[in-house]
Amino acid sequence: MSSIADHLTGVVSRAFEAAGLPAELGLVVPSSRPDLGQFQCNGALPAAKKVGAKPRDLAEAVAERLRPTGLFADVSLAGPGFINLTLTDAFLGERLAAMAADGRLGVPRAEPPRTVILDYGGPNVAKPMHVGHLRASIIGECLKRLCRFVGHDALGDVHLGDWGLPMGMLIGEVARRQPDLPYFAPASAENASGPFPDDSPVSMEDLEALYPAAAAACREDPARLEEARRATAELQAGRPGYVALWRHFVDVSIAGLRRDFAALGVTFDLWKGEADVHPLIDPMVAELKDKGLAEVSEGALVVRVARDDDKTDMPPLILLKSDGAVMYGTTDVATILDRMRAHQPHLVLYVVDQRQHLHFEQVFRAAALAGYDKRPDGGAAGLEHIGFGTMNGPDGKPFKTRAGGVMKLQDLIRMASDSAMARLDEAGLAEGYPAEERAEIARMVGLAAIKFADLGNHRTSNYVFELDRFTRFEGKTGPYLQYAAVRIKSLLRKARDLGFEPGAPLPPGDVERDLVLALGRLPDAVAAAWDKRTPNELADYAHTLAQEFSRFYNACHILSESDAVLRDSRLGLAALTLRTLERVLDLLGIEVPDRM
Ligand code: ARG
Repeated sequence: MSSIADHLTGVVSRAFEAAGLPAELGLVVPSSRPDLGQFQCNGALPAAKKVGAKPRDLAEAVAERLRPTGLFADVSLAGPGFINLTLTDAFLGERLAAMAADGRLGVPRAEPPRTVILDYGGPNVAKPMHVGHLRASIIGECLKRLCRFVGHDALGDVHLGDWGLPMGMLIGEVARRQPDLPYFAPASAENASGPFPDDSPVSMEDLEALYPAAAAACREDPARLEEARRATAELQAGRPGYVALWRHFVDVSIAGLRRDFAALGVTFDLWKGEADVHPLIDPMVAELKDKGLAEVSEGALVVRVARDDDKTDMPPLILLKSDGAVMYGTTDVATILDRMRAHQPHLVLYVVDQRQHLHFEQVFRAAALAGYDKRPDGGAAGLEHIGFGTMNGPDGKPFKTRAGGVMKLQDLIRMASDSAMARLDEAGLAEGYPAEERAEIARMVGLAAIKFADLGNHRTSNYVFELDRFTRFEGKTGPYLQYAAVRIKSLLRKARDLGFEPGAPLPPGDVERDLVLALGRLPDAVAAAWDKRTPNELADYAHTLAQEFSRFYNACHILSESDAVLRDSRLGLAALTLRTLERVLDLLGIEVPDRM
């Protein structure tokens, strides 16, 4: 199936062609003036420029060909030559029936399916996730679900920050605090290469305290920084004790992160990290030198990625610093190589803070220069940075706790469920339910509040974290949408109790028409959100659909309707709305309680 707008584009394109005009001008979109028509085509204006005629005359020529098709209740012209289209209810009814019968709700499956890697989340070992990681996780998870729904093979990779100087800092810090641990045995000692204990000498809480302490020490004391550098170099060179200790850091962190991500409803197919590409780096650097792409500049080894037509400064990508240290960009180029070898993706999306834009531009250019983005079929993988803005505090700066620190994810989630619980009380919802169920509802509502607030704006905008607003059941919020879905569930339950079953939806009448049109726009919303990687288009769609349902629900009788066929048809429409809303909410990562 295609969307109604796509279907009409086909019809109107053929009418353009029949009128001797370019078919590609027959694009039909939902109307910006619903009072004039349900859909519109503005192609007569550019057509007039092309053939040197009056746009209104051309529009009329097209309209004359559209009227006899029987699809339209009205074809009219407006302004200089806009064509307004209103479908017959019979046609809408057919579309509705087809959508209801389709497991994909009318959304066409992408052909051919592509392999897409989504790099998102991106937390760092031993550091708590900050709001940037939260946004990356929420947006990335939504894009992954969307990508799958569209029909592609999507792989989510957490791309852990588990390599580099922070690891050396941690090793140095532990070495000072517990110098007798076997990991630090000098190379000459007989136990220098193990065996090492299976249990980690540090817990997640330890790591969270160790890292800031180590970072502070390295900032203040150059000797400590030097120590950390040396430890990093030795770790990367494979010193067994350091590798064993580092493994504990990573494992302990991953266990904590898995919990955090599970609490958010975010899952990954790949738990890879920067360290995984370490073995690729030496040969890669050698190859880049061989190819003449890497050169020495001020002691560092760099790849020049600037182009003549660059409008802004494009510094070279640094592969190795003068001390030989591997950089963030080096691992990212090697990761492209690794991913191409392992999965041959057609597309890799990097859902990362837009402040890293320059970094990704450098990395993508370096990879393309080296040909690392080539697939076995000769095509190049699309490499896209999906940047996003910051979540700010009331002061307009990136969100922090009151104490000025990083808000832990668990604390944020707890705050959100508390606020959601208060809202439930206020609204008299979930009253008298068992405490456990109320807590579960509050958890879902709190998460919906956070996620919808994040996904509801265009991803590149910054937004202010206002929990009190996000958890409201009115307005454009996640809880409003959950409540809308729950209301439909409750309607369907009541109907069942009365012995009524949702039936095949009839062609719409005045009360149903706008809701049916909104349902029919799902494929457009999905396509727009995927093509532009803009979850907010799905969020907007869900909100409009919920509003249309609410209008429909207030405008007609359902359970008290005496015409049984009409009643069951409206129940069918309600059931289809619920399916559609739940489908979209699931893409947004929002769960719907059974009742509240
Ligand atoms: N760990 C990085 C950070 O905290 C994000 C990683 C993003 N992904 C990537 N391939 N560079 O900023």
